[in-house]
Amino acid sequence: MTPAASSQATTERLTAILARYPGARREHLIPLLQDIQGELDYLPAEAIDAAARHLGVTAAKVYGVATFYNQFRLIKPGRHRIAVCRGTACHVIGSATLLDHLEAELGVKAGGTTRDGEFSLEIVACLGACSMAPVVMVDGTFHGRVTAKSLARLLRDLRRGAGHAAEATP
Ligand code: FES
Repeated sequence: MTPAASSQATTERLTAILARYPGARREHLIPLLQDIQGELDYLPAEAIDAAARHLGVTAAKVYGVATFYNQFRLIKPGRHRIAVCRGTACHVIGSATLLDHLEAELGVKAGGTTRDGEFSLEIVACLGACSMAPVVMVDGTFHGRVTAKSLARLLRDLRRGAGHAAEATP
């Protein structure tokens, strides 16, 4: 799909979502943003502006809400989403070092997406698998007792298109 066609498709999807929230009611802001993110996977600037116009509030107000709640993403996620748990158990056992490795290896800070759109890196709170600490989640799959070495292997596998190595379930 060309960028213009993609933008047109996004506009049409936004229009359809906005139509579910008639009446410019400000209490619709959070469910509206949730719906948009559910559909687009993040909140692009176009969506922020459209939501603001639709509800009769400023874009700054919408940005304020979107950045206040960490459920919302303002950056398009990468094809592979890597989340490092920074809950207490994972932190104590070295998740900060894993995060450092990932940031250095991917050339992107937590909260960002690599330029090629392949990887996004996030920090998350306890994933509920503390017995497997430190835990890294990749594309929704838990990887437990991750070491620098297993992390390097995991990244290598993802780059080769086989991101399911070394996975575990909580
Ligand atoms: S602290 Fe990481 S899974 Fe609980």
